Amino acid sequence: MAKEKTVYFCSECGHESSKWMGQCPGCKEWNTFVEEKVLTKKGGAKSKKTFASPMNMSEVEALTEERISTDIKELDRVLGGGIVTGSLSLVGGDPGIGKSTLLLQVCRNLVNRKEKVLYVSGEESAHQIKMRAERIGTFKEELLLFCETNLDDIKEAIIRSKPKFVVIDSIQTMFSDDLTSAAGSVSQVREVTAQMMRIAKEHNVAVFIVGHVTKEGVVAGPRTLEHMVDTVLYFEGEREAAYRILRGVKNRFGSTNEIGVFEMRSNGLVEVANPSQIMLNGRPVDASGSVVVCSMEGTRPILIEIQALISPTSFQMPRRTAVGIDYNRVNLLMAVLEKRVGLHLGGCDAYVNLAGGMRLGEPAIDLGVIVAIASSYKNVPVAEDTIIFGEVGLVGEVRGVSHGEQRIKEAKKLGFKTCILPKANVDAMQQKVDMKLIGVSNVREVLECI
Ligand code: TYD
Ligand code: MG
Repeated sequence: MAKEKTVYFCSECGHESSKWMGQCPGCKEWNTFVEEKVLTKKGGAKSKKTFASPMNMSEVEALTEERISTDIKELDRVLGGGIVTGSLSLVGGDPGIGKSTLLLQVCRNLVNRKEKVLYVSGEESAHQIKMRAERIGTFKEELLLFCETNLDDIKEAIIRSKPKFVVIDSIQTMFSDDLTSAAGSVSQVREVTAQMMRIAKEHNVAVFIVGHVTKEGVVAGPRTLEHMVDTVLYFEGEREAAYRILRGVKNRFGSTNEIGVFEMRSNGLVEVANPSQIMLNGRPVDASGSVVVCSMEGTRPILIEIQALISPTSFQMPRRTAVGIDYNRVNLLMAVLEKRVGLHLGGCDAYVNLAGGMRLGEPAIDLGVIVAIASSYKNVPVAEDTIIFGEVGLVGEVRGVSHGEQRIKEAKKLGFKTCILPKANVDAMQQKVDMKLIGVSNVREVLECI
């Protein structure tokens, strides 16, 4: 016997509660609780249960996961070397960023290698998918299309047609009959994901789920989805800009923070093999406040320009903005400059920007931010063939960072001649590099040598 019950879910983190609350105890967000009806099945008399028991690890067979290459190098790298069979991945991103396009391209590459692929769409009609498919190139073999939103039908289709790879576009349009709440609600999204996980594991199919994101940049509905799936990829970038960045934020089968860079063209997404080159395109020469840094994104070094604009404020409270990097980190670095070097930034507006629409979180760009701010404040440009990296501490010390040699190599490839880096990195350098290296140990030294 099933009984209908009303429960409340936090639409941010998926916290469940029997009554409505103003603030979520889970994620401390306000006004996020939504009401949903769920059917609970009443259990009959408890049947006698047999208990499972733990096993010794040495008895467990070690399996190497089977990977399917997508023939898209950037995507394969983000996934850690291809799609793992039997895994469930979530692809998030703003509407129109190119999620459906990318996955359809993956489908094309797989069917052209004679793999069986099922594309389930709850958003577009078969005609629309066909039109898109014609834009992105030829399908030499058949792709199975299924425009359906009912989970039971989709499950049945997967079991019958036994594909190797399934795309569910999108999770917010799918619903399970077991629940009475509407498609896209927290309980539906969770239920559908959980069931897809079960199918992926039981039938050894790789499943990719598309999820829309909210303004805050998380997959709409619960963040708990991220815990349920094996891999989470996010598509970032401005819809207007041509470049799109695919970032791995969770990966049970590989490293995270690996990025793939794509360009949206009229015939679909094209890989960008050398992102540093495009990130530095159009860089101003001899301008104060512009600095090139080198950040490691996963296993790949990327050169990016940081721009800072410091000007005397005409407000009571100086304005501070940061685009592409953490706002609090910028404030912290400005405080370091104020206290340790004696720059009077308190009366200045500060705008710090990463060129190219990228977002970076690596501390190795700290030193670049410091120099960009100081360069703009003093109106002294940094030599254009200079690259800077290093982490900065609160005492104003410059700390060593990992992968020093790799960063220098990338800079050399793009024609840089001088590198300002932590002294610790220079000391640890094993090979001789063909570049002028300036090792610094605190912020004051950096500003002196510029
Ligand atoms: P889409 O993959 O539908 O985005 P999502 O599934 O993430 O919502 O991308 C649609 C956008 O991409 C749309 O604005 C048109 C553009 N586009 C191209 O520029 N070239 C192409 O070849 C395709 C298929 C789409
Ligand atoms: Mg889409």
